[in-house]
Amino acid sequence: MTDYKTMIDHALESYFNDPNVSYHTLTDSMRYSLLAGGKRLRPILLLEFCRISGGDVEKALPVACAIEMIHTYSLIHDDLPCMDNDDLRRGKPTNHIVYGECTATLAGDALQAEAFRSVLSADLPADRKAACALYLSEASGVNGICGGQILDIEGEGSILTTKQLDEINRLKTSALLIAACKMGVASAGGTELQLRAAEQFGRYLGLAFQIRDDVLDVLSTEEELGKPIGSDQEEGKNTYMALLGQEQCEQKISELTLCAKHTLTSNFEDCDYLLDLADSMAIRRN
Ligand code: IPE
Ligand code: IPE
Ligand code: MG
Ligand code: MG
Ligand code: MG
Repeated sequence: MTDYKTMIDHALESYFNDPNVSYHTLTDSMRYSLLAGGKRLRPILLLEFCRISGGDVEKALPVACAIEMIHTYSLIHDDLPCMDNDDLRRGKPTNHIVYGECTATLAGDALQAEAFRSVLSADLPADRKAACALYLSEASGVNGICGGQILDIEGEGSILTTKQLDEINRLKTSALLIAACKMGVASAGGTELQLRAAEQFGRYLGLAFQIRDDVLDVLSTEEELGKPIGSDQEEGKNTYMALLGQEQCEQKISELTLCAKHTLTSNFEDCDYLLDLADSMAIRRN
């Protein structure tokens, strides 16, 4: 994981780094959030799925950077006053606190477009790049992050059912994790069977991941999490923690993690790393 993270952090360093451009306020703010840290879970998943599907991890790096750009854009916008109104992210003041709302909005917009540029500029066969761009656009559009985020905002202050909450989290969080896994397979030119397995793994892992996120919003500390604690309750969010309580959340996370791992072992030979990754995400502290 450290190796992948180092590779990804190093690759991300090389984007938007010309200090002489006239619009450097924008690129500074993009780099501020992009290089602020973060677990890099989505690009790590992408690179590992690429490797176990027989692909060239180095060549998939621009695709991995692209998914981190989409994720970072979604966090910058998620933190805006009109959304979750948060002032801390990855242990640092949020983008709009440092650069103002206008620049933060544009930084998100630009990261979104640049992500697709990065995918399409990769040194990979055109059909693989097209597949990656398609999965990424599906996961970030109406049937992904944006659809999930509108339901999340509209649900504030009312009590939703578990089914409705599952739908929100499938869209706002699982969709991008599913895309990460599928883009890894696609960048390697993997099989239909591998793609379907990657999708299923991402779906289970994604749901477990958001449940853990909801738990940590209540039980963690600001120092450990790098985000404000109690933000969900303050905004009147529907969360698994509020709906089910800690014990049931932990039960659900264990079940989903088991399902995710089972999907892997029945479809990939060399999957020890991903099995460990799934376990570590289930008990993560940040
Ligand atoms: C936070 O994602 C937003 C959710 C979808 C829950 P991460 O927990 O992956 O955030 P970083 O990238 O490590 O900061
Ligand atoms: C965020 O969900 C999902 C996104 C698409 C960014 P949250 O609003 O719970 O994420 P955090 O807790 O702010 O990271
Ligand atoms: Mg949110
Ligand atoms: Mg938020
Ligand atoms: Mg949260």
